[in-house]
Amino acid sequence: MTFDFDEIIDRSNTLAMAKQGYEKYLFGDEPAVLPYADEQLISMWVADMAFASAPSARAAMIERIESHSIFGYSGLFGDDFFDVFAAWAQNFYGWAPKRDHFLTSPGIVPALFDLVEHVLKPGEKTLTLTPAYGYFKHAPAYHDREYVTSGLIEDDAGHYSIDFDDLAAKVADPQVRMFFLCHPHNPTGRVWTEDELRQMATLCFDNDVVVVSDEIHCDLLRHGVSHTPLAKLFPDSDQIITCMSPSKTFNLAGLGFAMVIIANDEIRDIWVDRNSPLVNPVSVAAATGVFRDGHQWHDELRTYLDGNLAYVQETLAERLPEARFTIPDATYLAWINLSAYFEPETNLTRHFAETAGVILEGGDMFISDGDGHIRVNVACPRSVVVEGLDRIIAAVPARVLAS
Ligand SMILES: Cc1ncc(COP(=O)(O)O)c(C=O)c1O
Repeated sequence: MTFDFDEIIDRSNTLAMAKQGYEKYLFGDEPAVLPYADEQLISMWVADMAFASAPSARAAMIERIESHSIFGYSGLFGDDFFDVFAAWAQNFYGWAPKRDHFLTSPGIVPALFDLVEHVLKPGEKTLTLTPAYGYFKHAPAYHDREYVTSGLIEDDAGHYSIDFDDLAAKVADPQVRMFFLCHPHNPTGRVWTEDELRQMATLCFDNDVVVVSDEIHCDLLRHGVSHTPLAKLFPDSDQIITCMSPSKTFNLAGLGFAMVIIANDEIRDIWVDRNSPLVNPVSVAAATGVFRDGHQWHDELRTYLDGNLAYVQETLAERLPEARFTIPDATYLAWINLSAYFEPETNLTRHFAETAGVILEGGDMFISDGDGHIRVNVACPRSVVVEGLDRIIAAVPARVLAS
């Protein structure tokens, strides 16, 4: 490997959510009672990586900072960034995003909030598959819109599938107007098949529901897995909004830059009217740098993550045989079902923080259908994964619950 993913980087005092931001986010007003000193805690929660960000991002940012001394108001006036992103999309997904539909946002989370506000009238609702990323609930809730959920089906091996009968019933609610699709899916790591994508989208189109396809995890694929943007399957549909970003893949989440591709003219016009077209020029430099020059780093990252997830699978099979875990198709998030060991109401976030000193997210953080599960971020040096998993396993009760 050319790049060093084993390097331990101290993130103390760097404004890192992973290190300093968990207390309020995970424990609210009831601080956890932690058995370890701060520097001994292992952070495996928020979805960024403990690896150095892609060097092609740093090089491009340094070049921008050193070559030009003004950081004034900036916008994507030319096609330079779009062309680099479009080449990446063509290369990895065989998809040609349309220039006319292309917009940016300081992040996908802000885009979710904006889209709910722009598209849904009072009384209208969103729909999402659960367990799910929390902001699919926070965005509608913030705007006083209801969110409807359709629970995924988990089999005995920890593999998830869609309950299409339930989804069809939920999407038929005339108040449901927006479907938040997470593809690949956080937290289960599923990459939806073309057949599943077609079925979901067809249900939405038949019921006049706009699909917001959040594809932020789409480049974090296991080797051998490929990603099909939903919009690629329906090039003529104007019911799909695609959200992508270099932030997860290249570890740039703090730079606040994402792409939003809106096919519908009316929704795009509203977006343009209400959203700022400004971008951070340093973030654009980084995004350009990684999509243009980040291929080798990206490939090595994927190899390293494949190894971490294989380690998790082997270790759980050997030492925690009643845990259910399938290596995710995508993401670096291990979604582990520990319901054989814990009562469903156990707050697993608190349990593992307080007994193991491992900061991770319990299933209750994922809207619904997450009881008994933990989400463990394994985008860390292998030595950290080994120690984190050791501590997690040691904090699981030896006795299996009666079924
Ligand atoms: C599905 C999904 N969407 C969006 C985000 C965050 O997006 P951003 O950092 O661009 O706001 C995350 C981060 O974990 C995520 O998992």
